[in-house]
Amino acid sequence: MSTKQTCPERKPLSTISQNKSHQTHSHQMKVIETISEMRSMRRQLATPVGFVPTMGYLHEGHLALIQRARAENASLVVSIFVNPAQFDPQEDFSSYPRNPQRDLAMLAAEQNDVVFMPSVMEIYPSGFNSWVEVGQVTERLEGASRPGHFRGVTTIVAKLFDIVQPTRAYFGQKDAQQTIVVKKMVADLAMDLEIVTVPTVRKPDGLAVSSRNAYLNLEERPAATVLYRALCLARQLWLQGEKDAGNIRRQMTALIQKESRATTDYVSMADPETLEEFDTVKPPALASLAVQIGKVRLIDNVVLE
Ligand code: PAF
Repeated sequence: MSTKQTCPERKPLSTISQNKSHQTHSHQMKVIETISEMRSMRRQLATPVGFVPTMGYLHEGHLALIQRARAENASLVVSIFVNPAQFDPQEDFSSYPRNPQRDLAMLAAEQNDVVFMPSVMEIYPSGFNSWVEVGQVTERLEGASRPGHFRGVTTIVAKLFDIVQPTRAYFGQKDAQQTIVVKKMVADLAMDLEIVTVPTVRKPDGLAVSSRNAYLNLEERPAATVLYRALCLARQLWLQGEKDAGNIRRQMTALIQKESRATTDYVSMADPETLEEFDTVKPPALASLAVQIGKVRLIDNVVLE
Protein backbone atom coordinates (compact mmCIF):
# COMPACT_ATOMS: atom_id res chain seq x y z
CA MET A 1 0.00 0.00 0.00
CA SER A 2 1.44 3.36 -0.93
CA THR A 3 0.89 6.19 1.52
CA LYS A 4 2.94 8.66 -0.44
CA GLN A 5 0.25 11.13 -1.49
CA THR A 6 -1.76 10.93 1.70
CA CYS A 7 0.95 11.37 4.32
CA PRO A 8 0.98 14.43 6.57
CA GLU A 9 2.95 17.28 5.08
CA ARG A 10 6.61 17.40 5.94
CA LYS A 11 8.51 20.59 6.42
CA PRO A 12 11.84 19.99 4.63
CA LEU A 13 14.77 20.31 7.01
CA SER A 14 16.68 22.24 4.36
CA THR A 15 14.39 25.24 4.94
CA ILE A 16 15.70 25.47 8.49
CA SER A 17 19.06 27.14 8.72
CA GLN A 18 21.73 25.33 10.69
CA ASN A 19 25.49 25.50 11.26
CA LYS A 20 25.60 29.27 11.09
CA SER A 21 28.63 31.01 12.47
CA HIS A 22 28.46 31.62 16.22
CA GLN A 23 29.79 35.11 15.70
CA THR A 24 27.22 37.71 14.94
CA HIS A 25 29.09 40.95 14.36
CA SER A 26 26.14 43.31 14.39
CA HIS A 27 24.05 41.50 16.98
CA GLN A 28 24.54 41.12 20.69
CA MET A 29 22.56 38.52 22.55
CA LYS A 30 21.90 39.03 26.28
CA VAL A 31 21.92 36.05 28.62
CA ILE A 32 19.85 36.68 31.74
CA GLU A 33 19.54 34.48 34.83
CA THR A 34 17.32 36.38 37.25
CA ILE A 35 13.65 37.34 37.15
CA SER A 36 14.33 40.96 38.12
CA GLU A 37 16.91 41.44 35.32
CA MET A 38 14.53 39.82 32.83
CA ARG A 39 11.75 42.21 33.86
CA SER A 40 13.94 45.29 33.44
CA MET A 41 15.30 44.00 30.09
CA ARG A 42 11.71 43.49 28.90
CA ARG A 43 10.99 47.19 29.44
CA GLN A 44 13.78 48.03 26.97
CA LEU A 45 12.73 45.61 24.20
CA ALA A 46 11.08 46.82 21.00
CA THR A 47 7.57 45.42 20.56
CA PRO A 48 6.06 43.13 19.42
CA VAL A 49 8.03 40.64 21.51
CA GLY A 50 8.12 37.00 20.36
CA PHE A 51 8.82 34.31 22.95
CA VAL A 52 9.89 30.67 22.58
CA PRO A 53 9.94 28.69 25.85
CA THR A 54 12.26 25.64 25.68
CA MET A 55 13.97 23.11 27.90
CA GLY A 56 17.16 23.53 25.86
CA TYR A 57 19.10 20.86 23.94
CA LEU A 58 17.85 22.67 20.87
CA HIS A 59 17.08 20.86 17.62
CA GLU A 60 15.50 21.63 14.22
CA GLY A 61 12.02 21.64 15.79
CA HIS A 62 13.02 24.49 18.13
CA LEU A 63 14.70 26.30 15.23
CA ALA A 64 11.40 26.29 13.31
CA LEU A 65 9.71 28.03 16.30
CA ILE A 66 12.60 30.47 16.74
CA GLN A 67 12.79 31.40 13.05
CA ARG A 68 9.04 31.97 12.84
CA ALA A 69 9.13 34.10 16.02
CA ARG A 70 12.15 36.04 14.70
CA ALA A 71 10.35 36.78 11.42
CA GLU A 72 7.13 37.96 13.08
CA ASN A 73 8.43 40.15 15.93
CA ALA A 74 10.68 43.14 16.58
CA SER A 75 12.33 41.37 19.55
CA LEU A 76 12.88 37.72 20.38
CA VAL A 77 13.25 36.08 23.80
CA VAL A 78 14.04 32.37 24.21
CA SER A 79 13.98 30.68 27.61
CA ILE A 80 16.02 27.61 28.51
CA PHE A 81 14.77 25.94 31.68
CA VAL A 82 14.54 22.21 32.36
CA ASN A 83 11.37 22.28 34.44
CA PRO A 84 11.47 19.70 37.26
CA ALA A 85 7.73 20.16 37.92
CA GLN A 86 6.70 18.53 34.63
CA PHE A 87 8.72 15.31 35.04
CA ASP A 88 7.02 12.16 36.39
CA PRO A 89 8.74 10.54 39.37
CA GLN A 90 9.75 7.65 37.02
CA GLU A 91 11.24 10.04 34.44
CA ASP A 92 14.72 11.23 35.21
CA PHE A 93 14.90 15.00 35.47
CA SER A 94 18.63 14.89 36.24
CA SER A 95 19.51 12.85 33.14
CA TYR A 96 17.47 15.04 30.74
CA PRO A 97 19.98 16.06 28.00
CA ARG A 98 21.55 19.48 28.44
CA ASN A 99 24.08 21.42 26.37
CA PRO A 100 23.83 25.14 27.22
CA GLN A 101 26.98 26.22 25.36
CA ARG A 102 25.78 24.68 22.12
CA ASP A 103 22.28 26.12 22.67
CA LEU A 104 23.68 29.63 23.17
CA ALA A 105 25.74 29.40 19.98
CA MET A 106 22.68 28.26 18.02
CA LEU A 107 20.57 31.09 19.45
CA ALA A 108 23.19 33.74 18.67
CA ALA A 109 23.27 32.46 15.08
CA GLU A 110 19.49 32.93 14.88
CA GLN A 111 19.82 36.63 15.86
CA ASN A 112 18.03 36.00 19.12
CA ASP A 113 17.96 39.05 21.41
CA VAL A 114 17.58 37.63 24.92
CA VAL A 115 18.07 34.19 26.49
CA PHE A 116 16.38 33.73 29.86
CA MET A 117 18.17 30.89 31.71
CA PRO A 118 17.03 30.89 35.33
CA SER A 119 18.16 28.35 37.93
CA VAL A 120 15.66 25.97 39.55
CA MET A 121 15.91 27.98 42.81
CA GLU A 122 15.14 31.22 40.95
CA ILE A 123 11.88 29.75 39.62
CA TYR A 124 10.97 27.47 42.54
CA PRO A 125 12.42 29.08 45.67
CA SER A 126 12.00 27.11 48.88
CA GLY A 127 8.38 27.21 50.03
CA PHE A 128 7.04 27.58 46.47
CA ASN A 129 3.50 26.22 46.57
CA SER A 130 1.29 27.80 43.89
CA TRP A 131 0.13 25.90 40.83
CA VAL A 132 -1.78 26.63 37.64
CA GLU A 133 -4.04 23.76 36.66
CA VAL A 134 -6.26 23.38 33.57
CA GLY A 135 -9.12 20.86 33.87
CA GLN A 136 -10.54 18.26 31.44
CA VAL A 137 -8.24 18.57 28.40
CA THR A 138 -5.34 17.70 30.70
CA GLU A 139 -6.98 14.47 31.87
CA ARG A 140 -6.83 12.62 28.55
CA LEU A 141 -4.01 11.18 26.39
CA GLU A 142 -0.66 12.49 27.70
CA GLY A 143 -2.37 13.64 30.90
CA ALA A 144 -3.74 10.14 31.57
CA SER A 145 -0.33 8.53 30.90
CA ARG A 146 1.70 11.17 32.77
CA PRO A 147 -0.26 12.39 35.84
CA GLY A 148 0.83 15.84 37.05
CA HIS A 149 2.76 16.58 33.85
CA PHE A 150 0.46 19.32 32.56
CA ARG A 151 0.18 21.00 35.97
CA GLY A 152 3.96 21.39 35.79
CA VAL A 153 3.79 22.70 32.23
CA THR A 154 1.02 25.25 32.84
CA THR A 155 2.65 26.48 36.06
CA ILE A 156 6.02 27.17 34.40
CA VAL A 157 4.48 28.58 31.21
CA ALA A 158 2.21 30.95 33.20
CA LYS A 159 5.19 32.08 35.30
CA LEU A 160 7.36 32.63 32.21
CA PHE A 161 4.56 34.57 30.47
CA ASP A 162 4.25 36.79 33.52
CA ILE A 163 8.02 37.45 33.63
CA VAL A 164 8.63 37.88 29.88
CA GLN A 165 5.30 39.58 28.98
CA PRO A 166 5.46 38.44 25.33
CA THR A 167 3.16 39.67 22.57
CA ARG A 168 3.23 36.19 21.00
CA ALA A 169 4.48 32.80 22.21
CA TYR A 170 5.33 29.93 19.87
CA PHE A 171 4.56 26.24 20.45
CA GLY A 172 5.00 23.17 18.23
CA GLN A 173 2.16 21.15 16.69
CA LYS A 174 4.27 18.09 17.60
CA ASP A 175 3.17 18.51 21.25
CA ALA A 176 -0.44 19.07 20.18
CA GLN A 177 -2.01 18.53 23.60
CA GLN A 178 0.46 20.89 25.29
CA THR A 179 -0.47 23.60 22.78
CA ILE A 180 -4.20 22.97 23.32
CA VAL A 181 -3.74 23.13 27.11
CA VAL A 182 -1.70 26.36 26.93
CA LYS A 183 -4.31 27.96 24.62
CA LYS A 184 -7.07 27.00 27.07
CA MET A 185 -5.11 28.49 30.00
CA VAL A 186 -4.51 31.73 28.09
CA ALA A 187 -8.21 31.99 27.14
CA ASP A 188 -9.58 31.07 30.59
CA LEU A 189 -7.23 33.41 32.48
CA ALA A 190 -7.53 36.20 29.86
CA MET A 191 -3.75 36.36 29.48
CA ASP A 192 -2.78 39.18 27.13
CA LEU A 193 -0.83 37.35 24.41
CA GLU A 194 -1.30 35.30 21.27
CA ILE A 195 -0.32 31.62 21.05
CA VAL A 196 1.08 30.64 17.64
CA THR A 197 1.24 26.96 16.62
CA VAL A 198 4.12 25.96 14.32
CA PRO A 199 3.97 22.82 12.09
CA THR A 200 5.90 19.69 13.07
CA VAL A 201 9.39 19.30 11.56
CA ARG A 202 10.08 15.78 10.26
CA LYS A 203 13.13 13.80 9.21
CA PRO A 204 13.08 12.65 5.54
CA ASP A 205 11.55 9.29 6.60
CA GLY A 206 8.74 11.07 8.46
CA LEU A 207 9.96 10.75 12.06
CA ALA A 208 8.98 13.89 13.97
CA VAL A 209 12.03 15.74 15.31
CA SER A 210 12.27 15.40 19.11
CA SER A 211 14.96 15.52 21.83
CA ARG A 212 13.98 11.95 22.72
CA ASN A 213 15.07 10.63 19.28
CA ALA A 214 18.63 10.84 20.61
CA TYR A 215 17.84 7.90 22.92
CA LEU A 216 16.92 5.55 20.01
CA ASN A 217 19.56 2.94 19.16
CA LEU A 218 20.43 1.86 15.60
CA GLU A 219 17.74 -0.84 15.46
CA GLU A 220 15.08 1.33 17.12
CA ARG A 221 15.59 4.34 14.84
CA PRO A 222 13.95 2.76 11.73
CA ALA A 223 11.24 1.17 13.93
CA ALA A 224 10.33 4.66 15.20
CA THR A 225 8.89 5.59 11.77
CA VAL A 226 5.91 3.41 12.72
CA LEU A 227 4.27 6.47 14.34
CA TYR A 228 4.33 8.38 11.08
CA ARG A 229 3.22 5.32 9.13
CA ALA A 230 0.23 4.87 11.44
CA LEU A 231 -0.71 8.55 10.99
CA CYS A 232 -0.39 8.18 7.21
CA LEU A 233 -2.71 5.20 7.39
CA ALA A 234 -5.27 7.20 9.42
CA ARG A 235 -5.18 9.98 6.86
CA GLN A 236 -5.48 7.56 3.98
CA LEU A 237 -8.47 5.74 5.51
CA TRP A 238 -10.17 9.04 6.23
CA LEU A 239 -9.54 10.34 2.68
CA GLN A 240 -11.05 7.11 1.36
CA GLY A 241 -14.25 7.97 3.23
CA GLU A 242 -13.81 5.98 6.47
CA LYS A 243 -15.78 7.81 9.20
CA ASP A 244 -15.76 5.11 11.88
CA ALA A 245 -13.17 6.40 14.36
CA GLY A 246 -13.01 3.03 16.13
CA ASN A 247 -12.10 1.30 12.89
CA ILE A 248 -9.36 3.85 12.14
CA ARG A 249 -7.95 3.44 15.68
CA ARG A 250 -8.02 -0.38 15.32
CA GLN A 251 -6.20 -0.32 11.98
CA MET A 252 -3.56 2.07 13.32
CA THR A 253 -3.04 -0.18 16.36
CA ALA A 254 -2.76 -3.28 14.12
CA LEU A 255 -0.09 -1.56 12.01
CA ILE A 256 1.91 -0.65 15.14
CA GLN A 257 1.63 -4.23 16.46
CA LYS A 258 3.43 -5.50 13.35
CA GLU A 259 6.52 -3.60 14.49
CA SER A 260 8.18 -5.88 17.06
CA ARG A 261 10.04 -3.06 18.88
CA ALA A 262 6.88 -0.94 19.29
CA THR A 263 4.27 -0.99 22.07
CA THR A 264 1.19 1.22 21.76
CA ASP A 265 0.43 3.49 24.71
CA TYR A 266 -2.60 5.15 23.09
CA VAL A 267 -4.08 5.79 19.66
CA SER A 268 -6.64 8.59 19.44
CA MET A 269 -9.05 10.18 16.96
CA ALA A 270 -10.36 13.18 18.85
CA ASP A 271 -11.82 16.66 18.66
CA PRO A 272 -8.78 19.00 18.40
CA GLU A 273 -10.18 21.45 20.96
CA THR A 274 -11.73 19.27 23.66
CA LEU A 275 -9.77 16.07 22.92
CA GLU A 276 -13.00 14.06 23.29
CA GLU A 277 -12.75 10.81 21.35
CA PHE A 278 -14.89 10.59 18.21
CA ASP A 279 -17.20 7.66 17.45
CA THR A 280 -17.79 9.18 14.00
CA VAL A 281 -15.00 11.37 12.64
CA LYS A 282 -16.02 14.99 12.10
CA PRO A 283 -13.25 17.17 10.66
CA PRO A 284 -11.15 18.77 11.92
CA ALA A 285 -9.97 15.70 13.81
CA LEU A 286 -6.73 15.20 15.69
CA ALA A 287 -5.20 11.78 15.02
CA SER A 288 -2.56 11.29 17.71
CA LEU A 289 -0.60 8.50 19.30
CA ALA A 290 2.03 7.61 21.87
CA VAL A 291 4.21 4.59 21.20
CA GLN A 292 7.03 3.07 23.19
CA ILE A 293 10.00 2.09 20.98
CA GLY A 294 12.19 0.01 23.25
CA LYS A 295 12.52 2.26 26.32
CA VAL A 296 11.81 5.49 24.41
CA ARG A 297 8.27 6.89 24.49
CA LEU A 298 7.45 8.94 21.37
CA ILE A 299 4.37 10.99 20.44
CA ASP A 300 3.13 12.36 17.14
CA ASN A 301 -0.06 13.63 15.54
CA VAL A 302 -1.71 14.99 12.43
CA VAL A 303 -4.83 17.10 11.96
CA LEU A 304 -7.36 15.74 9.47
CA GLU A 305 -9.25 18.63 7.89
O1 PAF B 1 7.74 21.88 25.32
C1 PAF B 1 8.62 22.10 26.17
O2 PAF B 1 9.82 22.10 25.90
C2 PAF B 1 8.20 22.40 27.61
O3 PAF B 1 7.08 21.64 27.96
C3 PAF B 1 7.97 23.89 27.89
C4 PAF B 1 6.83 24.46 27.06
C5 PAF B 1 9.24 24.67 27.58
C6 PAF B 1 7.63 24.10 29.36
O4 PAF B 1 8.65 23.64 30.19
